[in-house]
Amino acid sequence: EVPRGSRQKEENIRCLTMLGHFGFECLPHQLVNKSIQQGFSFNILCVGETGLGKSTLIDTLFNTNSREKKSSHFRPNVELKIQTYQLQESNVQLKLTVVTTVGYGDQMNKEARDILHKGVGKGVAMVNIIPLIAKADTISKNDLQTFKSKIMNELISNGIQIYQFPTDDKTTAQVNSSMNEHLPFAVVGCMDEVKVGKRMVRGRLYPWGVLQVENENHCDFVKLRDMLLCTNTEHLKEVTHTKHYECYRRCRLQKIGFTDVGPDNQPLSFQEIYETKRKEFHEQCQREEEELKHKFMQRVMEKEIAFKEAEKEASISSLI
Ligand code: GTP
Repeated sequence: EVPRGSRQKEENIRCLTMLGHFGFECLPHQLVNKSIQQGFSFNILCVGETGLGKSTLIDTLFNTNSREKKSSHFRPNVELKIQTYQLQESNVQLKLTVVTTVGYGDQMNKEARDILHKGVGKGVAMVNIIPLIAKADTISKNDLQTFKSKIMNELISNGIQIYQFPTDDKTTAQVNSSMNEHLPFAVVGCMDEVKVGKRMVRGRLYPWGVLQVENENHCDFVKLRDMLLCTNTEHLKEVTHTKHYECYRRCRLQKIGFTDVGPDNQPLSFQEIYETKRKEFHEQCQREEEELKHKFMQRVMEKEIAFKEAEKEASISSLI
């Protein structure tokens, strides 16, 4: 960070002593009020094979009811299921859109690969990837640690960049860096409530005891929920817009001929490229119009000749 004094000198900014109360200290409140009025939106894409526990996890996270019926393992292709919910916590409205894959992983067919490639394009992530281990109650504690390391090693060796909880904000640096160490989160989903002592808790009841979804000694569900919805929601959205969407937009523009530098490596202005493209398009339209006109004239001439021929033949036959 540039020290305040040197930045002021550089930009030649003078510090003024205020004579009265201006009121611009309310600026943050204005932003908060505006955001609360508009409401927030958050999109989640949940990818995993059929029956992995995606819907149950989403329902447990948001107290929704998206599990209508089981999907078949024998679908010919992969589909996306989109569900939108309006959630409210105190006076904050959240429009949540959850997209889940249906039929993914049953057959590594073309569509499945497409979805994978849309999320992870040649190692460059196009979305914030948060890896999870589902049904973590089906694996022992020791095996889980080995499994976590194995997954992380595979992600690294395949060059897949996952989302890192940010550590540049003092207030969240400590918790976020410790959470980065816990990835992938091993989660359990369950909508059932069971009695533990005198309390009712969300959990899976087994002959040997209860797995409590919200007990941090049992699984990482609370860690996932806190990281996703309490600590880093805004950062996740910001990274999506400023990094992933910008990267996607840039690639799309490059594909249709918009580049930052010309063949001589000199920077090109967007306006110049736009004008050139517009001229090219205009010329192409003119060419096509000329071609159409030419074809039309030819057809008219052909018809005229045919008409005259027919007329001639008709007059001969009437003479006879
Ligand atoms: P499709 O929508 O059919 O692709 O499946 P899905 O991935 O959404 O799985 P779903 O949530 O429907 O769960 C499938 C089955 O796994 C159900 O019987 C759930 O009760 C069970 N299940 C879900 N989460 C867990 C979990 O954390 N642990 C265990 N043991 N079972 C789970």
